[in-house]
Amino acid sequence: MPRASLLDTRRITFNEIQSLFKKAIEFRELQKQFGSFVSPDQKNQSKVIACLFFEPSTRTRMSFQMAAYRLGHQVLAMELAASSSLSKGETYLDTVLNVLAMRPDALVIRYGESKELDEALPQLETPIINGGSGTTAHPTQALLDAFTIQEAFGSVKDKKVLIVGDIQHSRVARSNFDVLSKLGAKIGVSGPSGFLPNEQTITQYGISVFNDLNEGVSWCDVYMGLRIQLERHAASELKLASLDEYHQRFGLNQPRLKLLKENAIILHPGPINHGVEFAHEVAQDPRNRVLTQVANGVLIRAAVLS
Ligand code: CP
Repeated sequence: MPRASLLDTRRITFNEIQSLFKKAIEFRELQKQFGSFVSPDQKNQSKVIACLFFEPSTRTRMSFQMAAYRLGHQVLAMELAASSSLSKGETYLDTVLNVLAMRPDALVIRYGESKELDEALPQLETPIINGGSGTTAHPTQALLDAFTIQEAFGSVKDKKVLIVGDIQHSRVARSNFDVLSKLGAKIGVSGPSGFLPNEQTITQYGISVFNDLNEGVSWCDVYMGLRIQLERHAASELKLASLDEYHQRFGLNQPRLKLLKENAIILHPGPINHGVEFAHEVAQDPRNRVLTQVANGVLIRAAVLS
């Protein structure tokens, strides 16, 4: 695998994470001064970044595009299946190989469960950036989440991060376990029993499990809500009486907002199901940093691309 690929967060080091954060801060300053991530005296050689998103996306896809444009690069994006040869039966792997045959400088890719792509991507010479793969990894989301926490508190170390909801099917949670533990955070989880991480993961990352969400809410400095990944559940395994009941038991509602520390922050990778994982009131809560996450996503993705 080329050193420049970012397929997951397993091998990324503390120092690499901090140097990406430093770069993100530099880009924010350049943006303020010059309206782009390159100063007028810098001559950036324009590159072509290919984007293949085989699953829907708003934030990841557009923030990679925005980051590329702000760096002075070009984007070659394929729209979803209907307008591509995927609709004629072409496989994901063949699509990737054909796009790479056009020699882009890097490829950003999102895909669902695919053993074939999981095995092939690490073998490719072109730098590959994972924009979310199945239930396994979403490295840039975890990096932007940790960056948002660091910006809010000055450091991630010893911050108590509670991840709530469908953790078992969440690539965001998996990558966050890796990045947050490398930065010294304490991790807690809460959710329906079938949504919680397995024993091995709980032990590996020293995760605290809160069966009573209220206890977790009082404990945490960072509340991270997750969407129920309906597309990754077999209908039969989703034993929720109703989304209303889910909201009562595992949603961030008004009584829980009162339990949450005054200086805590509220995160969500999006898209949010209002009235399910978050009450409508959360949007107006001053602790809400969801749009800050999105803004930071452009900076972090620019840092990764650069
Ligand atoms: N957080 C996230 O991955 O959002 P999108 O699916 O909109 O990219």
